[in-house]
Amino acid sequence: MTDVVNQETIEPWELISPPVETVDLTLPQRLRLGVLASGSGSNFAAIAQAIAAQTLNAQIQVLIYNNPQAKAAERATQYHVPTVLLNHRHYPHREDLDGEIVKIFKAHNVEWVVMAGWMRIVTAVLLEAYGDRVLNIHPSLLPSFPGIHGVEQALAAGVKITGCTVHFADLEVDSGPIIMQAAVPILPTDTAETLHARIQIQEHRIYPQAIALAAKLKP
Ligand code: GAR
Repeated sequence: MTDVVNQETIEPWELISPPVETVDLTLPQRLRLGVLASGSGSNFAAIAQAIAAQTLNAQIQVLIYNNPQAKAAERATQYHVPTVLLNHRHYPHREDLDGEIVKIFKAHNVEWVVMAGWMRIVTAVLLEAYGDRVLNIHPSLLPSFPGIHGVEQALAAGVKITGCTVHFADLEVDSGPIIMQAAVPILPTDTAETLHARIQIQEHRIYPQAIALAAKLKP
């Protein structure tokens, strides 16, 4: 007879897979991260905090942001991280923007690209330069609900559980091998705002851990 899992030990609203307790996330050397962000930068801040708390052995070399209003830039300045604004409207082709990103990241000695709310489609220019060292976070349990409205799509579909995913990026939107996910229940009273807020609590938990796990997988 198989063992019955003790239900009391499982907190379904904060289920993270793989469970971090099962993985050694200590890194022998400091990762050099380049972050891409378009919005409020709360994931940027979560990564910066994990570094400051020494739970993630890494350094953010530079933040590139594409929206002049992005709060992520202010957060980077608070953490003494250099910032570069690349307004996507000034680049007629996506490849041109990615070419500039690669130039800046190389100049800042970046080895891992971390998309933290980067609302642009990645091209082969970035992936060829950084291979499988490009990470993304998305507010759904991929492959369900990719795109810019992952939270709203989950609500509209009537699913009872959604969550967030950190994955290696490929040429499709919010697609590529999954590194870590966290589940979040949808409550009957949820709006897109309340649900996204709870998903973001999990995003902030898993992104620093998933970066370390990615580095373990691709040393
Ligand atoms: C995050 O919820 C992230 O998952 C999402 O943008 C938000 C950025 O928040 N990304 C996507 O939807 C990618 N398709 P933040 O600026 O506070 O980190």
